[in-house]
Amino acid sequence: MRSSRAYNSGMHAADGLRPRLIPTVRQQGNLMTDAPTIRAFSANEWRVYRDLRLRALADSPDAFGSTLAAETGGLDAEWARHLASSVDSPLNLPLVAEVRGEPIGLAWGRIDTSDPDLAALYQMWVAPSHRGVGAGQMLLKAVIAWARARNASSLDLGVTCGDSPARRLYERAGFQPMGEPQPLRPGSTLLAQAMRLALRGAAEQDGAARRSS
Ligand SMILES: CC(C)(COP(=O)(O)OP(=O)(O)OC[C@H]1O[C@@H](n2cnc3c(N)ncnc32)[C@H](O)[C@@H]1OP(=O)(O)O)[C@@H](O)C(=O)NCCC(=O)NCCS
Repeated sequence: MRSSRAYNSGMHAADGLRPRLIPTVRQQGNLMTDAPTIRAFSANEWRVYRDLRLRALADSPDAFGSTLAAETGGLDAEWARHLASSVDSPLNLPLVAEVRGEPIGLAWGRIDTSDPDLAALYQMWVAPSHRGVGAGQMLLKAVIAWARARNASSLDLGVTCGDSPARRLYERAGFQPMGEPQPLRPGSTLLAQAMRLALRGAAEQDGAARRSS
């Protein structure tokens, strides 16, 4: 997970509780094209992560619950500690999308600390210059595969209400609205819709419930 090679999100069942991202074989000549690749952040890449995150908040202020003002000015040590501890945690999957080695997007998968059945997707963003070539879908698929491999029963997210590329991306992947829209953040007039993707069939969920009772 610390390597800087390109990854897909396949997991080794034999890898114990710690899911492992398996290096993917690049298509021949892929390095010479503008095709996006996805990989997990390395622990020491906090500057790359910080810059992407701040670009995302500046570019798409209506897409996230957090704000540029809230996240600008954080101490370098805090960014570094946050990323390093997350990369080391089986409950987090911080992902970077790249084109020709240039960071162009990110997404963050997280398993709920109090309920390992629940996974969530945060921070999905692709730079405007690189939208529409599949990076968003690749990030989403990687987080879905990781959450499945972690044996989560569902993957949740929140998306600002309206017809948007993000909403279409999530609907295409099978996410369903959950509950009533809520303010994007306290005091906001924008609404966000919670959405959920069921990762297990009904029979599997029944079995898991019986095993845990
Ligand atoms: C949502 C977001 C991450 C999608 O990223 P993306 O990399 O553009 O996503 P994709 O390329 O996978 O898909 C986007 C569109 O391109 C199309 N597309 C993807 N690959 C394509 C290809 N090879 N050729 C033609 N079209 C393609 C998709 O069908 C999709 O079309 P649609 O918008 O009409 O539904 C991006 O728009 C973004 O960062 N938005 C602002 C932040 C945001 O809303 N984040 C979500 C927070 S919940």
